[in-house]
Amino acid sequence: MPCRIEPPLKKPLTMAIEEHRAKNFTHHEIRARGAVGNLAEGAENRTHGVRTRMIAWPGNGYITEAVHVLTLSPGESSTHYTYDLAEEAMLCFQGSGEALVRGQWVTIKPGDLAYFPEGVEHAVRNPADSERDLILVTQISPPQLDLYVDGGFYHKQLGVMNFEAIRKATFNAHPAQLSKTLEMGYHDTHPEVRPWSLTPEEVRSGGALFNVYSGAEFSGIGVGPMRLVLWPGAGTQRCGFNYTYVAADVPDVAHYHPASDECLILWAGRAQAFVGDRWIDLEPLDVVLAPCGVMHGHRSHQPTFFGGFASPPQHDLLVNTPYYSDGKVKPAPYVQIRGEDCVGYDGFKPGDVST
Ligand SMILES: [Fe+2]
Repeated sequence: MPCRIEPPLKKPLTMAIEEHRAKNFTHHEIRARGAVGNLAEGAENRTHGVRTRMIAWPGNGYITEAVHVLTLSPGESSTHYTYDLAEEAMLCFQGSGEALVRGQWVTIKPGDLAYFPEGVEHAVRNPADSERDLILVTQISPPQLDLYVDGGFYHKQLGVMNFEAIRKATFNAHPAQLSKTLEMGYHDTHPEVRPWSLTPEEVRSGGALFNVYSGAEFSGIGVGPMRLVLWPGAGTQRCGFNYTYVAADVPDVAHYHPASDECLILWAGRAQAFVGDRWIDLEPLDVVLAPCGVMHGHRSHQPTFFGGFASPPQHDLLVNTPYYSDGKVKPAPYVQIRGEDCVGYDGFKPGDVST
């Protein structure tokens, strides 16, 4: 992709200006050039009985994955469901609740990431005595098109997305009220379902409860500490999730993924992102929509946590690691990101959070 990347401007930070927001673009434009979304913005739907906001999905140019935000008020629960074709990852972002992982109900707290392979039953609930909504960010790969039928976004008989309905619903959606305080921390409750207690084969067949602060060490884009959390060495096949801390003024290596759609989220801090062909200011919870082939990069103005979902897990990153050789992937140790690793960050210290 011919692309000349100018250094990011040092200027007062503002929310990504309107002209770059995803709601103003067609799915073709986002697929070709990327855009900036936000976890609070997107067309709304109901999936498996749960209020769902679509962030990255076939309605805005994504092919290999769908990223949704689920909201469950106290007392609400999903149905029990199984995808025979898709894997799903559910990241507990705010609040807390319970998920059915490896056949047992387990508590999930912000930072916990439940992984469900295909053919495994899923369910999630927010107990009636909770004081807050449970907010989850989910990845489904490949997207399950029938989830969009009842909302009028997919025509099952014709096999087409209804882009006019999607555009109108997306443009007119009321932004949700989400806290910008990073609540995600390290937890190791329920050790029997944690991936570091299981083999990758057991994760692959039955799922596990990951945490975003623990995974394989990775330095391939020049920032860190960074972890590969959901990746083939951990037992996933189509679900991919990476998470990193970046000190102020540290840029990453701008790149694009030849064969993976990626949805990157700025979880905390302020930064600029290079998306397609322009630099865009980001605030916490902004999302870089970078489908396959769209150049993207990042430069932090403040200490930041960012990372996100890619499907399939980025092979182009993996081939340059010691975890990969000639088509084979090797498991890697789980290494926690601790507060003392996050140089310059005075707020949340992930290693200090109790379980
Ligand atoms: Fe990337």
